[in-house]
Amino acid sequence: MRIAIIGTGYVGLVSGACFSEFGVSVTCVDMDADKIARLSRGEIPIFEPGLDQLVASNTAAGRLSFTTDLKSAVKGADAVFIAVGTPSRRGDGHADLSYVFAAAEQIGEALAEQPGERTVVVTKSTVPVGTGRRVERILKKILPPDRFDVASNPEFLREGSAIQDFMRPDRVVIGTDGEHARTVLRSLYRPLYLVEKPVLFTSLESAELIKYAANAFLATKITFINEIADLCEAVGADVQDIARGIGLDGRIGGKFLHAGPGFGGSCFPKDCQALVRTAEIAKAPLAIVDTVLRVNDARKRRMAQRIIEACGGDVAGKTLAVLGLTFKPNTDDMRDSPSLSILPALLEAGATVRAFDPEGMDEAKKQMPELDYCGDAYETMQGADALVLLTEWNEFRALDLKRVKALLRVPVVIDLRNIYKPEEMSAAGIAYFSIGRPPAVEPGDVPVAANPAGLRAIA
Ligand SMILES: NC(=O)c1ccc[n+]([C@@H]2O[C@H](COP(=O)([O-])OP(=O)(O)OC[C@H]3O[C@@H](n4cnc5c(N)ncnc54)[C@H](O)[C@@H]3O)[C@@H](O)[C@H]2O)c1
Repeated sequence: MRIAIIGTGYVGLVSGACFSEFGVSVTCVDMDADKIARLSRGEIPIFEPGLDQLVASNTAAGRLSFTTDLKSAVKGADAVFIAVGTPSRRGDGHADLSYVFAAAEQIGEALAEQPGERTVVVTKSTVPVGTGRRVERILKKILPPDRFDVASNPEFLREGSAIQDFMRPDRVVIGTDGEHARTVLRSLYRPLYLVEKPVLFTSLESAELIKYAANAFLATKITFINEIADLCEAVGADVQDIARGIGLDGRIGGKFLHAGPGFGGSCFPKDCQALVRTAEIAKAPLAIVDTVLRVNDARKRRMAQRIIEACGGDVAGKTLAVLGLTFKPNTDDMRDSPSLSILPALLEAGATVRAFDPEGMDEAKKQMPELDYCGDAYETMQGADALVLLTEWNEFRALDLKRVKALLRVPVVIDLRNIYKPEEMSAAGIAYFSIGRPPAVEPGDVPVAANPAGLRAIA
C-alpha cells in the first residue's frame, strides 16, 4: 500500500511514522519548507518521545519520505490523509476549515492531472460534523465520482504518548459510505486487527461527531473534578481520595480525574468551542459543554489569584519560580497552555517570573518573552519568593526538598498538580499549597482555616 499524508505536524508526522512502521509506504507532505528540510535531514521538528527513532528507522528502510510537493506524493496513492490544523476561527470559535478545504482542493487537482486508480481521501484532522460532505463536494467539482471516496478517520492520540496511542489505540473509528474506502482503510489498519483492537465503522457524520464528543466528555470530567476540588478545600476533604473513590467505580473510571489548574492544550479548548458552535447552529445546544468552557476559563484566571494569595496577597516586587510551561508533560506544545493565562496575570500584578520547562521554552519564549528563562529547576528557584509547580514533568516529581528550601528566599511551594504529599513538604519546613487537599496536620494540631482564596496552608 502507498499513502500520502497532508500536514506533517503532531498528528501527521506521528501517523506517517506509525503507518510506515506497519509496512506501508508513506509520503508526508507539508507546505512548511523549513519543516520538510529539517525532516529530510533527520531532524524532528517537535518533541514527542520515541518519534526520532521511529522516523529514522523507517526513513532508512525507504518506507517514509518527506516532501513539499503534494502532486508527486498523491500520485498513485491508495489513500491520502488530510492532517492539517483546524484551529479556532478568530472571533467566533468555529473551527477554521480553510486548511482542510485548501488541502482537499489541492488533492483533487493533483488527482485530476494524473488519471489512475481510485483514491480514498481521508480526513484525520478534527473537523465539525458535515465537513466530510463538504470535502466530497469539493472533490466532485474536480473529479469524476469513480476516482475517489471520502472517509473520516479521527485521531485520538495524546501528545506525550502519541506513538503508543497510535500503535495500541483503544479503538479506531472509520466513517464512510463507500465499500472501497472501507476495504482500503481496513487493510491499512490490519496490524491493529491482528492485536484485536476494535475498529468501528460508522457514517461520515458519526465518525466526525465521535471525536468531538470524546474530547468534550474528557474535558467535562476534568472540569468536574476541579470543581469537586474547590468543594474539598471548603469542607476539608481530599480530592485525591474522592477521585480514587469514584474512579474505582467501573461506570466512572479513574482517568481524567486529576484536579489541576484547568485544561488547556491544542485540542480540548478549541474542540469544545467548535462543538458548542456546531450545536448552536443545529439548534441542539450543548449547555454542559458550554458551561465546562466557562468554568475552565474562569479557573485558569483564578489560579493566578491563588498564587498571589499564597504569597501573602501581593506579588508586586516579588520573584516567582515557575516549573513547567507546556500544557502537559512530554510535549513541547504550548498551544492554549494554562501557563499562558496564569503567568501574564502574575507579571501584570508586578511579579518577576523565572521559569524553566524541559522542552517548551523555545515556543514559550516567543509567546512570553518577558519571563526570565533558566537552565534547570534549581537555578529557577534561587532566591525566589515562592515556587510554583505548573506542569508535572517527571523531573519535577522528586526535587531535593532540602535544597528547594535552602534555595528559596521564602519557603513557599504552590503545587497546582498535586505532585507532592502535604506531609513531606511539612516535614521539609515548606509552606505548601495544593489543589483540593487538606493541610498536613500533626495529631493535636488545629488545622489552619481555609484562606479567602480557598487554599489551606501548612505552617
Ligand atoms: N495535536 C494533537 O494532539 C491532536 C490529537 C488528535 C487530533 N488532532 C487534530 O489533528 C489536526 C492536526 O493537528 P496538529 O496538532 O498535528 O497540527 P499542526 O499545526 O502541528 O500541523 C499541521 C500541519 O499542516 C500543515 N499544512 C496546513 N495546510 C497544508 C497544506 N495545504 N499542505 C501541506 N501542509 C499543510 C502545516 O504547515 C502544519 O505543519 C487538527 O485538526 C487537530 O485538532 C490533534
